[in-house]
Amino acid sequence: MGAGKTTLGAGLAERIGRPFVDLDAELEARARLPVRELFAQRGEAEFRTLESAAAVDVLESRRPGVVALGGGAVKIEAVRRALREHALTLLLEVEPEVAWERVRTAEDRPLARDPERFRALHAERAPLYDETADIRVRDLDGAVLAAAGVHVETGAFERLAELVPGEGPVALVSEPRVAGIHGAEAQLALGARLDSTHELPSGEAAKGIAACAALWEELGLERGGTLVALGGGALTDAAGFVAATYLRGIAWAPVPTTLVGQVDAAIGGKTAIDVAAGKNLVGAFHWPARVVADPALLASLSPEERRNGLAEVVKTGLLAGAPLWELPDPDLVRACAAHKAAVCLRDPLDRGPRASLNLGHTFAHALEAGAGYALAHGDAVALGLTAALRVSERLYGLDPEIRADVERTLRPRPVAVDGARAWAALRRDKKALGGEMRLVLLEAPGRPRTGVAVAEEDVRAELRALIT
Ligand SMILES: NC(=O)c1ccc[n+]([C@@H]2O[C@H](COP(=O)([O-])OP(=O)(O)OC[C@H]3O[C@@H](n4cnc5c(N)ncnc54)[C@H](O)[C@@H]3O)[C@@H](O)[C@H]2O)c1
Repeated sequence: MGAGKTTLGAGLAERIGRPFVDLDAELEARARLPVRELFAQRGEAEFRTLESAAAVDVLESRRPGVVALGGGAVKIEAVRRALREHALTLLLEVEPEVAWERVRTAEDRPLARDPERFRALHAERAPLYDETADIRVRDLDGAVLAAAGVHVETGAFERLAELVPGEGPVALVSEPRVAGIHGAEAQLALGARLDSTHELPSGEAAKGIAACAALWEELGLERGGTLVALGGGALTDAAGFVAATYLRGIAWAPVPTTLVGQVDAAIGGKTAIDVAAGKNLVGAFHWPARVVADPALLASLSPEERRNGLAEVVKTGLLAGAPLWELPDPDLVRACAAHKAAVCLRDPLDRGPRASLNLGHTFAHALEAGAGYALAHGDAVALGLTAALRVSERLYGLDPEIRADVERTLRPRPVAVDGARAWAALRRDKKALGGEMRLVLLEAPGRPRTGVAVAEEDVRAELRALIT
């Protein structure tokens, strides 16, 4: 009571694009009486019966959604059973003192009459909450991450065995560089659950069909096993694809070790490999059983790899409407991961709003193609973002100070790449219609617009400005 379940529940539903049911409101609608009066007129026992019936109905509904339960609903075994069978149950933690301050003046709280009784109620319910909760959260980002199965915590790496869902065997897949730095610790952390260890090549080579085929042949996991993928985005993309296809799909848990991986690549269920016809052309949507992101693993990253990640962080900050890049690593990873998780839960199959994540990437991909892929992704994204922001300034009057801030943070410099090749790649990617191309732009920080028509000539001029 007073934890903020209704506010957080509504916010969570909004962010992940699911319907929201507040159980008190549902009860009031059914009884046509305010909860306070229902409680007073019928007494607690009958109130709980009505509450239980409403909760079980809502929880058994086939439509995925967010439900805020009343604080006392878990006292009833039927509700606890419905939660176990149909829900991922988040316990919103709050100090009793804070909750009391919030509820003591509220008129519609029949059980919040004096602080002693309130504290006793809190203590009485605590064991039930412990028993019922799947995950404990304190804020909206925490709830989004929990809903997406993303666990961000410094030190999580040491608890891998318990954080990888299930109790079955684990095949650990990594690559030589990462295995050299973090492999032994991963094996130790997985303990008795570790069944076998495997390697893909380091870097983009992991995403070749031959490397994946070798892993398919090596894996001896049964259906109940889990593939744990330890590495950067290339490794998790490839290992995730192997998990999606091996035995027609086994559970997997990426443990991203780069900034790109922790804020972007490991989240959202997209897995892919490269083929001669193009990068990421073959893949599958395969949502991880859990993503375990430990920001402490980033300490060994090279400055160049950090820069690659920082460009994605800046992109995420622009989309989320906050300068997330100014945060310390653990907070930055958490906030960016939550943003991406929410967008991907809204659009798991990439058919709508997920396109916003491509802000700046149309130009970036073109520059990478123009460089024959010898350009750091972060540098390409940094340039692509400035181009997208410049177009946004012209179309929406976006404040140029935002671009100045991005430029101070990422220091993008025009690059010497093959302009004709870059333009050809962009045109192939964006197929101009009636002399216009569709871009992702920013109306304001936190307000991306996808599919905005921009004159082909303007896009070309912007691309040219990025090339020396
Ligand atoms: N699936 C998605 O949604 C998605 C999103 C963005 C990017 N991606 C993919 O991610 C890939 C890029 O990911 P990346 O930038 O992480 O590249 P990467 O996996 O190639 O890693 C970059 C380099 O960092 C090294 N490295 C990794 N972790 C380290 C650590 N902790 N300490 C020291 N060195 C470490 C690696 O050995 C590698 O040399 C691309 O293939 C891209 O297509 C996928």
